Amino acid sequence: MTTAQPLDVQPTPLALLLLGREADPKSERGVECPGDLPAPSAPDLVERARAAKEALGDKVFVLGHHYQRDEVIQFADVTGDSFKLAREAAARPGSEYIVFCGVHFMAESADILTADSQQVVLPDLAAGCSMADMATAEQVAECWDVLTDAGVAGSTVPVSYMNSSADIKAFTGRHGGTICTSSNAKRALDWAFGQGGPDTRVLFLPDQHLGRNTAVRDMGLSLDDCVVYNPHKPGGGLTAEELRAAKMILWRGHCSVHGRFSLESVRDVRERIPGVNVLVHPECKHEVVSAADQVGSTEHIIRTLENAPAGSKWAIGTELNLVRRLANRFAAEDKEVVFLDKTVCFCSTMNRIDLPHLVWALESLVDGKVVNRIQVEPETEKYAKLALERMLALP
Ligand code: 13P
Ligand code: SF4
Repeated sequence: MTTAQPLDVQPTPLALLLLGREADPKSERGVECPGDLPAPSAPDLVERARAAKEALGDKVFVLGHHYQRDEVIQFADVTGDSFKLAREAAARPGSEYIVFCGVHFMAESADILTADSQQVVLPDLAAGCSMADMATAEQVAECWDVLTDAGVAGSTVPVSYMNSSADIKAFTGRHGGTICTSSNAKRALDWAFGQGGPDTRVLFLPDQHLGRNTAVRDMGLSLDDCVVYNPHKPGGGLTAEELRAAKMILWRGHCSVHGRFSLESVRDVRERIPGVNVLVHPECKHEVVSAADQVGSTEHIIRTLENAPAGSKWAIGTELNLVRRLANRFAAEDKEVVFLDKTVCFCSTMNRIDLPHLVWALESLVDGKVVNRIQVEPETEKYAKLALERMLALP
């Protein structure tokens, strides 16, 4: 008979917060919503957004990630993947306000890369990212202690995916590492492995799939070169020998949206649509990426379809807002685009940014009130910026 042990589980404040009711500034998904949002059914929302943007003129620049809803993305001055949006944010010193239609870590990165006088607004603070939430500053500090005890911290270079909080980016900068996105992960790993001798290894945070897919698919490493560090297990669930032997220490994080795509979805679509090309985002599991024809960031997916010949067929493994938009756009060019999975797969937090929130954010700016400002604390910003600038300087 087993005796009940006291639960030693860190409470997760996020799960207990009612969306739109409270604020949780320590978490990636702070939540605060005013009671005076326009109703989603208000018939004049499009007109109000247009009028507010026009009134703000050059003072405002709206960035839109490819996963945003149609109703929102139509108001973006620039759309892009997270790499392109980070660069765009850095390249707009003239805009007083950057309204970021994306998720929290993207808005944080925009704040880090813009001048102190510029203000970054995230129309709904509940737009977080469950993957970014999977690595907290405390957990990562503990991991570094584990690597230190195993004698490998000195030969480990952290590489953190853009989809991480500013704290994790600052940790990365402090320890000589770089940020990467899905469009430059190979270049970031090349850079990281070039930072030391042959025993250099990478601690890849927080998406194990992007780390593994890049290492194995693009860098020629083997699956045996990769180990998974589980922050919920003592010592990450790894022995010092395993850590010493590893080239890639992958954080046990993942995207729940891309995690839905399976080998079965790939087999299934190939059966249903003969001749189909399967194109997936590198956040998908390794088995899915291995079975796909092509892999790439959201920007890469769009470019690939733009360059595809008429009559070609594509099954896309990424978020549904984007895939639906692409399906509609390319139908006119006789390119068939379908969603890789059979069931719905929106990113629920990306979807938090809707037209009422955008209208509210823009109209507030017109009234001289900055709502939902994302502001990274200076010490964190300093080191996070170092890591982001290393990424922007990658060849
Ligand atoms: P991209 O950088 O490819 O746009 O990806 C961001 C993201 O969050 C994917 O889930
Ligand atoms: Fe995060 Fe996944 Fe949504 Fe991208 S799709 S923002 S990784 S939860």
